[in-house]
Amino acid sequence: MNTVKTIRELHAAVAQARAEGKQIGFVPTMGNLHAGHTALVAKAAQRSDFVVASIFVNPLQFGPNEDLGTYPRTLAADQEKLFEAGCHLLFTPDVEEIYPGGMAGQTRVCVQGVAEGLCGASRPGHFDGVATVVTKLFNMVQPDLAVFGQKDFQQLAVIRTLVRDLNMPVQIIGEPTVRAEDGLALSSRNGYLSEEQRRAAPALYRSLQQIAASIRSGERDLAKLIAIAQQQQTAAGFRPDYLEIRESNSLRAASPEDRQLVILAAAFIGNTRLIDNLAFDLDAVT
Ligand code: PAF
Repeated sequence: MNTVKTIRELHAAVAQARAEGKQIGFVPTMGNLHAGHTALVAKAAQRSDFVVASIFVNPLQFGPNEDLGTYPRTLAADQEKLFEAGCHLLFTPDVEEIYPGGMAGQTRVCVQGVAEGLCGASRPGHFDGVATVVTKLFNMVQPDLAVFGQKDFQQLAVIRTLVRDLNMPVQIIGEPTVRAEDGLALSSRNGYLSEEQRRAAPALYRSLQQIAASIRSGERDLAKLIAIAQQQQTAAGFRPDYLEIRESNSLRAASPEDRQLVILAAAFIGNTRLIDNLAFDLDAVT
């Protein structure tokens, strides 16, 4: 696996793979990789011939009071994991390589609809930052397909919308969330948790499972289910940010008639903000 830092080197390596007739798969990341990321790379390796990953902690998607400065940077360990998962080329640009004119005057991509509410409301500008950097990375790599985690459910919806609305010739593949044995969704931000917080953290996903179980057994008072789940989160030591039930294809607020649902949550434990979601289909046989 080669690691390159410049767009010029990236272009040369991808052009060579293309000249050899290879399909290009792409996995953009911010590094500090865990089994959730390596599953994305493994999927890209299954579905393409030449896998490119990027590690870039994108300042444009962080708010002023967020963790850009402390976001964990673990390049050597990441390189090993990527290689083992089947990555062929790693792109690790500096901020200047991606934003040579600075960020203030940078053209931005703003996805409508699915980017509003949820994390879009809690983190103003976040999805503009994500959509902008993903557009730039897609233009740099020119992949045939790209793989993203369903853990960031709204982000995946934003990227699918971006690709559709701007006619980008990239197939988007969503991969299921990878969880620890106790149910906690793997996330680079789990590393911020104290031992006690880590023990409490699976309560977030449990609260989503309880909502899903109640809906499956016929409960349709969604507001009541949300209130109960928020109480459970609070009792476990979380400060709920949002907890919403939406129709999973459109991300519009769910109505009692909807069959494909997703429960999305963000909550703080200490200073760490965790997100999770649970998508389910009431018509699916389980
Ligand atoms: O999900 C992430 O790690 C980031 O939001 C992404 C897609 C790499 C864009 O910076």
